[in-house]
Amino acid sequence: MKIVHSVAEMQDTAAATRARGESIGLVPTMGSFHAGHLSLMSAARTQNDRVVVSLFVNPTQFGPGEDLAAYPRDLDGDARLAAAEDVDVLFAPSAAEMYPDGFATTVHVAGVADVLDGAARPGHFDGVATVVAKLFSIVAPDVAYFGQKDAQQVLVVRRLVRDLNLPVRIEACPIVREADGLAMSSRNVYLDPEARARATALNQALSAAEAVVALGETRAEPVLAAARGVLAASGIDPEYLELRSPDDLTPVDAVTEPALLAVAARVGSARLIDNRMLEASR
Ligand code: PAF
Repeated sequence: MKIVHSVAEMQDTAAATRARGESIGLVPTMGSFHAGHLSLMSAARTQNDRVVVSLFVNPTQFGPGEDLAAYPRDLDGDARLAAAEDVDVLFAPSAAEMYPDGFATTVHVAGVADVLDGAARPGHFDGVATVVAKLFSIVAPDVAYFGQKDAQQVLVVRRLVRDLNLPVRIEACPIVREADGLAMSSRNVYLDPEARARATALNQALSAAEAVVALGETRAEPVLAAARGVLAASGIDPEYLELRSPDDLTPVDAVTEPALLAVAARVGSARLIDNRMLEASR
């Protein structure tokens, strides 16, 4: 596996790959790989001639007071894990390489980026959209792989790609969970044992809502109440717990069509998100 730090070398490597007629799958990441990242790499490996993984802790998607400095970083460990997934190129640029002096462009996706995490973390999705647009421009992948745990991010990136006519297909891969249901996240390392135990309530809350829907309930309020009850029993007061359209994140008041149940909550020192697609039982 080749490790590339400069934008120019990454562009040359990608251009040579395309000149050989080979397809490129890109897995954008901020590193600190867990099984969720590895599942994206594995999907990219099976569907493309070449796999590029970007590893960049993107400063512009962290707000003031967020965990940019504390965000886990382990380039050597990540490089070993990516190599074991048969990744061809690990693109690990510095912040100065991605945002040189004078950098002045921001990509803002209106609508889907303005609610849920966009409202809770102002500017977050501007940072995501800007860096993803840059990565797509540098690597020019045929397909890019994102985890469904960041369901809103997937919608933001899909909108970006559609609006700017970027020639890349977006693949959303299923959420990978720990044995007890906690969605895998690089931020899970912030959980102390007590918070780690309570954090399983997020997945349990989503399951409780799903169970209520499976029993025939479609109204949003009872569905949300089932989830809220599970969170409250673990002392978790969600930052948001909402039912939204999976297409454009507009609020929905009934699960008559598939609906996205999304939750964000602070548990101990970690801010966690999770989600589930709910479908009415027929
Ligand atoms: O999901 C992430 O790890 C990041 O938001 C991404 C897509 C790599 C952009 O920095």
